[in-house]
Amino acid sequence: MSGQLDEQGRLRHFLTTEGLPREVLERILGTAESFSGVIEKSVKKVPLLRGRTIINLFFEPSTRTRTTFELAAKRLSADVLNINVATSATTKGESLLDMLQNLQAMQCDMFVVRHADSGAAHFIADHVSPHVSVVNAGDGRHAHPTQAMLDLYTIRRHKGDFESLRVAIVGDILHSRVARSQIHALNGVGAGEVRLIAPRTLLPRDIDRLGAHVYHDIDAGLRDVDVIIALRLQKERMQGALLPSEHEYYRLYGISRERLALAQPDAIVMHPGPINRGVEIESAVADCPQSVILDQVTNGIATRMAVMSMCLEHREDGTGGGA
Ligand code: CP
Repeated sequence: MSGQLDEQGRLRHFLTTEGLPREVLERILGTAESFSGVIEKSVKKVPLLRGRTIINLFFEPSTRTRTTFELAAKRLSADVLNINVATSATTKGESLLDMLQNLQAMQCDMFVVRHADSGAAHFIADHVSPHVSVVNAGDGRHAHPTQAMLDLYTIRRHKGDFESLRVAIVGDILHSRVARSQIHALNGVGAGEVRLIAPRTLLPRDIDRLGAHVYHDIDAGLRDVDVIIALRLQKERMQGALLPSEHEYYRLYGISRERLALAQPDAIVMHPGPINRGVEIESAVADCPQSVILDQVTNGIATRMAVMSMCLEHREDGTGGGA
């Protein structure tokens, strides 16, 4: 399987936060911080990836991830192509690998890939040319590493160091690629405590090896936490009835104002989106002053700029470089 670090420990691909050294995770956060100034200026561009071509290859729907990858690439002065998979020649029977080889023949430098199958980004990384990088924009229930990094970046901006923080991830952990990537990344940077709050039916079997404390009682799990991350019920990945009803789920696991009051008074509320108001989170909580949900979206641009520039900065013919 393709490694995501080269022999010097630099990012070649970005496929997962699992097993990434702390130094690499912190470098992504630091590079994102240096790019945050760029996106706040009136001219929001730097020439780091001028002449590079980045292809967005999304086999699953997306609002936030696809658009912020596109904006991030444009802020770095790269040329960006968005492939509409629904109108591509894959509908005429072309295989994924043939499609990739044809796109590579157009001299692209990076694929940003979202796919419904776990492992799809690794598979593509195993088959691209040595000069092409692959960034995982979400594969099945496996990983969504740039979402995890933008979440850590948002936490650090609001809360400072990770060591003293209690972070609660609430909801459908079983089907969540975001939760897996967050748990690995939070443990990788030494977060004080990661709590997972969910019914038994929405927890993965390998929960014990993820390095988190499990709560089935949401009120106990939210007590004194500094960060609450709510997750959507991912019905598109559910097989069979894992819940009595959405109403019952909200009653037992919804983040309401009363439950938010159990956390630290200055706790922040996060959600990777899309939100289902009244299912996993009360509307008033999603919109309250403690909510940083839209900050997460904004921070996705600087974080994705960091990941793309770090993957391409050390290419031999590169014009790219760190911030
Ligand atoms: N958080 C996230 O992945 O959102 P999208 O599906 O809109 O990209």
